[in-house]
Amino acid sequence: MTILVTGGAGYIGSHTCLELLNAGYQVVVVDNLCNSDMESLKRVEQLTGKSITMYQFDARDEKQLESVFSNHNIACVIHFAGLKAVGESVSIPLTYYHNNLVSTMALCKVMKKYNVSNFIFSSSATVYAQDNEMPLHEGGHLGCTNPYGWTKLMGEQILKDISLADPAFSVVLLRYFNPIGAHQSGMIGEDPSGIPNNLLPYITQTALGRLERLTVHGNDYDTKDGTGVRDYIHVVDLARGHLKAVEYATKHQGCEAINLGTGVGYSVLDIIHAFEKENDVQVPYVIGPRRPGDIGSVYADPRKALDLLGWEAKLGIADMCRDAWNWQKQNPRGYRE
Ligand code: NAD
Ligand code: WQD
Repeated sequence: MTILVTGGAGYIGSHTCLELLNAGYQVVVVDNLCNSDMESLKRVEQLTGKSITMYQFDARDEKQLESVFSNHNIACVIHFAGLKAVGESVSIPLTYYHNNLVSTMALCKVMKKYNVSNFIFSSSATVYAQDNEMPLHEGGHLGCTNPYGWTKLMGEQILKDISLADPAFSVVLLRYFNPIGAHQSGMIGEDPSGIPNNLLPYITQTALGRLERLTVHGNDYDTKDGTGVRDYIHVVDLARGHLKAVEYATKHQGCEAINLGTGVGYSVLDIIHAFEKENDVQVPYVIGPRRPGDIGSVYADPRKALDLLGWEAKLGIADMCRDAWNWQKQNPRGYRE
């Protein structure tokens, strides 16, 4: 069975390509490499001993998408391609709306033409409104506070409407919580450009000495130690969730939103301490003010993923910290070495 993976050279995409190949799927990638490097896919090929067909172009380009669909018998599309930096989306909203929404619509249009009806969408816990009780379940209130989040919520709505109009169109909207970690080989991992925004790459680059110290964004939240609590999920667990979603989509019709999280929340200090303990390194930090837009706690109710997909996270916080550090140590400058 052939799976089209858009954004397959990126962080979550590359880990998913690896799991797909190991499970016996054929993998076709479309990626314009605007936030990634071909090296990730070369390493996936090395790790699996299997090859990937890679097309480098923008997923908004319907003509080029058509040639991919006519060259390959695609059974399912996993759509990772998208821009994902929350702060940047506030500065250049049109770029975000155009990139993330037009790519989704172009794919749907071409899929319809080629009778491909299974779609897995990279959504995010950011689509939940801030007034929900924790843990977040899929029926919670939806609403966003930044353009990036809106591109995900609007993407979900577009796909839901398409599946309502065409019951044969099967969609799984995967709402990821906080993906961290790397493949245990240390050969593929997260490779942010510039100074990282997210906690784990900030920690690994601080431990390495590339950054002087981490700033903990606030210690006055209503959490066990005052620092922000999140549902961190190992990227390999997340990747495996996509395989379960592909199986589900090919056997069911309609549109389902499903959380991919562990159900467990860790604070920023928990993560720093777990990272230091697991890896026997120091992460110098200072406490700073709250980061605008942050909330105290975010964690998933992961039961729907278990009920519908038969999936649950298996790897724990020690695995996440160990694998993130293993990747960073082996690749101090990411794929750019
Ligand atoms: P990433 O930036 O590493 O990967 C995205 C990939 O898409 C990159 O390889 C990039 O080059 C490619 N891309 C972007 N726009 C494209 C376009 N128009 N055409 C072709 N390729 C394009 O990001 P990631 O962390 O792997 O995230 C993958 C998806 O998951 C994204 O849609 C993101 O919004 C979503 N998501 C990520 C997180 C997270 O914390 N990493 C959380 C929730 C949801
Ligand atoms: C985690 C915790 C910070 C950096 C973001 C997006 C979300 C989703 C995942 C795509 C928070 C704290 C962080 C630092 C810190 N992406 N922190 N110092 O904000 O939960 O989610 O990535 O869909 O949409 O918003 O993740 O890793 O930035 O922060 O103290 O230098 O770490 O305040 O409590 P976040 P994060």
